[in-house]
Amino acid sequence: MAARSVPAVRVDRLHVVRGGRQVLPGLTLEVPRGQVVGLLGPSGCGKSTLMRCIVGVQLVTGGSVEVLGRRAGHPDLRRRVGYLTQRPSVYPDLSVAENLRYFATVLGVRRGRVAAELERVVGLVDLAARLDTRVSRLSGGELCRVSLAAALLGTPELLVLDEPTVGLDPVLRRDLWAMFHRLAAAGATLLVSSHVMDEASRCDRLLLMRAGDLLADDTLVGLRSATGAADAESAFLTLVEAGSAARRPSGSDRPSASDRPSSPPDVRP
Ligand SMILES: Nc1ncnc2c1ncn2[C@@H]1O[C@H](COP(=O)(O)OP(=O)(O)OP(=O)(O)O)[C@@H](O)[C@H]1O
Ligand SMILES: [Mg+2]
Repeated sequence: MAARSVPAVRVDRLHVVRGGRQVLPGLTLEVPRGQVVGLLGPSGCGKSTLMRCIVGVQLVTGGSVEVLGRRAGHPDLRRRVGYLTQRPSVYPDLSVAENLRYFATVLGVRRGRVAAELERVVGLVDLAARLDTRVSRLSGGELCRVSLAAALLGTPELLVLDEPTVGLDPVLRRDLWAMFHRLAAAGATLLVSSHVMDEASRCDRLLLMRAGDLLADDTLVGLRSATGAADAESAFLTLVEAGSAARRPSGSDRPSASDRPSSPPDVRP
């Protein structure tokens, strides 16, 4: 089928300025369909900005973003793309069920299907027992899962999930990753951001970002063999150091402090 051969996301020379600073200086990448793709990189490298571009809520200054064969933000994509923002985006004064009913209605889920759809998504995020609880009374992890449940409404073809596992305990984290893979096996594409490098082992493919650029687009196995590193974090450091060495004037052989992934945002005024 022709449509299936189009990647889920195609980003071409994407240029974004935020707050007067160049955040994405000309990013090019693709997200293949039917996989769980990890978007990894240090805080401030532009993961959320890229995701905002993919779901069509970010002003871009150049380049293009195509999603499921359409221009990002196209009205046809509204029901086909689910988006979990990094910060919870549900109403604190409504219950879990009221929030999900509201979002299901906005998405155009048929009235007769809403109850079953609510049951399905709360089951996926293990929140069935909290349906009638007001969102303001939930724990941080539960709050995150309500937003995730909302993103799963309508079974979108592409899920853009911005740090969905932050603040969750290891059991829940493992269960959510298993659920992501079940959704991918059923045909969905998941783009999942994290700045925790050990989540790399849970992804089919990795996009490693640094300072608005793509450092690598590979599987973890491919990354390890290309860099000789044991894990994603070491591979990332190896790639950063290789890039820095290429840019560094001769005579200096020490990586700068800004080359460490734990450093503050890479993009500076
Ligand atoms: N609302 C905003 N206005 C101006 N600049 C912003 C805004 N949001 C983010 N930025 C800047 O854009 C850059 C990229 O931020 P972004 O949120 O995309 O990074 P990130 O990789 O998602 O980081 P984190 O892992 O901390 O979530 C940062 O330098 C940040 O300061
Ligand atoms: Mg972010």
